[in-house]
Amino acid sequence: MTTTDPLLSVRDLTMTFPGKRSATGRRGAPVRAVDGVSFDLAAGQTLGLVGESGCGKSTTGRMLVRLLEPTSGSVTFEGKDISRLSQGALRPLRRNIQMVFQDPHSSLNPRQTVARVISDPLLVQGWSAADARRRAAELMDLVGLIPEHIDRYPHEFSGGQAQRIGIARSLATSPRLVIADEPVSALDVSVQAQIVNLMERLRTELGLAYVFIAHDLSVVKRVSDRVAVMYLGRIVEIGAKHLLYENPQHPYTRALLSAVPLPDPAAERRRERIVLLGDPPSPAAPPPGCTFHPRCPKAQQLCRTQRPLLQLAASREVACHFPGD
Ligand SMILES: Nc1ncnc2c1ncn2[C@@H]1O[C@H](COP(=O)(O)OP(=O)(O)OP(=O)(O)O)[C@@H](O)[C@H]1O
Ligand code: SF4
Ligand SMILES: [Mg+2]
Repeated sequence: MTTTDPLLSVRDLTMTFPGKRSATGRRGAPVRAVDGVSFDLAAGQTLGLVGESGCGKSTTGRMLVRLLEPTSGSVTFEGKDISRLSQGALRPLRRNIQMVFQDPHSSLNPRQTVARVISDPLLVQGWSAADARRRAAELMDLVGLIPEHIDRYPHEFSGGQAQRIGIARSLATSPRLVIADEPVSALDVSVQAQIVNLMERLRTELGLAYVFIAHDLSVVKRVSDRVAVMYLGRIVEIGAKHLLYENPQHPYTRALLSAVPLPDPAAERRRERIVLLGDPPSPAAPPPGCTFHPRCPKAQQLCRTQRPLLQLAASREVACHFPGD
């Protein structure tokens, strides 16, 4: 690996789940939850991964840490394809890629003390209990928790504090990459900014890279260097954050952005909201052509028959036959 190689390189990642069985025992159509996702992420950078519920964000995240086995495609980390490694061969690499989950309380074992929760990944790596406990106390301090609370249980903490515990655990093994799956979506709005700020500070201090998953564009704005917008299992627009926010090219990105409130009151009064009709279609029965066409205000005949591929438009990649205004 050279210094210019990305830390993480994802190519054509696909996940097809078997269709659900009906009451009569018949299997429904397979669900293509993730359908050919590709992106690169440099060390120390953040990719925001955004899209409506069910578009495949968590499935993508879980494949990156091999909580799910991809149906096809590759995940290359530090120059090594980790998507086909056996669990044994994966173990030494595990410490480099960690995950933070959406609901801090349900992702922390309620019967374990904070000391145990945070040191668990270290014990798995063979640390002594005393060293792991010392490290857990250091990590509590790093994420803004009081180390003296190390013997408390997760339910004794608020949602925001519990998410700090989840973040501390993810950092225990000094990873280079953290996959954060909606890390603030379950928190009160007032607490969300504190956690986002904490994650941003940790990224700078520790040189971390993040894949930061969220369902709207407002949450990822502060942390992301680049943003990828997903729709029905595919990336429909990906590029530098400022390009996407200032001049979105895909009609779906435009619609998501139009829902983000603006800080300037005058601009906020002028903000035009693009309301999308209906819900996203089922990934078990995607529409032909551009899968966004039933909801797209710009759809034309070509869109109903021909699938648009990601291609360069206005310095980022867009999957749309008619990008721009
Ligand atoms: N284990 C599974 N078996 C079958 N289908 C699944 C499974 N996990 C996810 N899916 C389906 O795959 C699609 C993508 O789900 P995923 O959880 O990745 O979406 P998401 O973008 O994270 O949504 P949300 O914003 O609600 O978290 C959905 O249609 C979901 O129902
Ligand atoms: S390809 Fe057509 S339907 Fe799809 S987003 Fe572009 S304009 Fe809309
Ligand atoms: Mg999800």
